[in-house]
Amino acid sequence: MTEGYHIAILGATGAVGSRLIDQLSKSTIPVASLKLLATAKSAGQTREFKGQTITVEEAKPESFEGVDIVLASAGGSVSAKFAPEAVKRGAVVVDNSSQWRMNDNVPLVVPEVNADALADHNGIIANPNCSTTQMVVALQPIKEKYGLKQVIVSTYQAASGAGKAAWDEMMAQTEAMNHGKTAPAEILPVKGQPHHYPLGYNLLPQIDVFEDDGYTHEEWKMIHETKKIMFGDKNSDAVKVTGTAVRVPIMIGHGEAVYFVTDAGAGATTKAIQADLADAAGVTLQDDPANQVYPQPLTAEGKRDTFVGRVRPDLENDDAFHMWVVSDNLLKGAAWNTVEIAQTLVDRDLVRVPEGAAAKFPTA
Ligand SMILES: NC(=O)c1ccc[n+]([C@@H]2O[C@H](COP(=O)([O-])OP(=O)(O)OC[C@H]3O[C@@H](n4cnc5c(N)ncnc54)[C@H](OP(=O)(O)O)[C@@H]3O)[C@@H](O)[C@H]2O)c1
Repeated sequence: MTEGYHIAILGATGAVGSRLIDQLSKSTIPVASLKLLATAKSAGQTREFKGQTITVEEAKPESFEGVDIVLASAGGSVSAKFAPEAVKRGAVVVDNSSQWRMNDNVPLVVPEVNADALADHNGIIANPNCSTTQMVVALQPIKEKYGLKQVIVSTYQAASGAGKAAWDEMMAQTEAMNHGKTAPAEILPVKGQPHHYPLGYNLLPQIDVFEDDGYTHEEWKMIHETKKIMFGDKNSDAVKVTGTAVRVPIMIGHGEAVYFVTDAGAGATTKAIQADLADAAGVTLQDDPANQVYPQPLTAEGKRDTFVGRVRPDLENDDAFHMWVVSDNLLKGAAWNTVEIAQTLVDRDLVRVPEGAAAKFPTA
């Protein structure tokens, strides 16, 4: 590792972090050096990257000296603290947490949809919520051809979307129940809330905290992130978006039943939409009901694409359709989208913090 970019992964020991290491190793980004950062508790652990053994270090503001690109996946409060420190030192941060997504100085990017938003970045680029990312990848080719007036989504989200500890908790509950026992629920639906419920053999219609209007914050994120990514404004009224987010007892891969309405009279048909999706970047069409072919979390796991099937018309509205969208929440929903953003920055020669931009993100 000599020529290329100096890269740091913040949150390198987490569910997303381990995949960031893997996706970076498979990307064409030239890596001059790689730093792996986590908490003091993980310092001293080692991870492999392209045949080299790298020791995990405790993240500190000084860790970002000499770093060109930070791939961050350590949660909102950690990102609030460290991203401005990194930008101040000249590093471009691609962040997985929700901390910066709604900040007007921060582009929220899914390269298949709005890569051009990277051109004006100020040093921090946000990666969307996992459930939003796969949905906009599937909706974009439809929007481009037929317009998009309304989206109604119901999600079926895997335990790993809540991090490694939540995934372990669900596995322990399932194992215990298989033997007629119970295991405690201490994390899900939301760490730090007064009540916890088992996800093993259960469904939890709460992802993140409740807003005053009765929506969960996950649902809120899907609404406003979709508008910001696809229509350039988090409060755009060009499209109506609503939905229900549900945690389901599987390990990896979010499923989404997406109902969408195109522009009136745009002429979309199921066959035409299937053809557009089959041609779209980052999409694999799996849609052959006669042969029982449709996307599933188990077959999407470990893959970078978003899988779409069950495209069919609303029989009572000529402009409306349903589709079923599945993707690996830890890859396109997180690590792969992050690395893909970094790859796009490298390809477009955008790995630089513009002069004066760091002042937009004051350090704590
Ligand atoms: N899971 C998903 O599907 C998904 C999708 C999109 C976005 N995200 C976002 O990605 C982030 C990480 O998610 P995850 O699922 O990977 O969580 P996780 O498995 O809980 O991992 C968290 C990582 O952050 C590190 N960390 C925590 N506090 C830190 C601190 N003060 N300083 C430095 N490092 C710290 C942890 O280090 P230790 O191991 O040392 O504790 C660990 O490496 C979250 O913001 C999440 O919302 C997740």
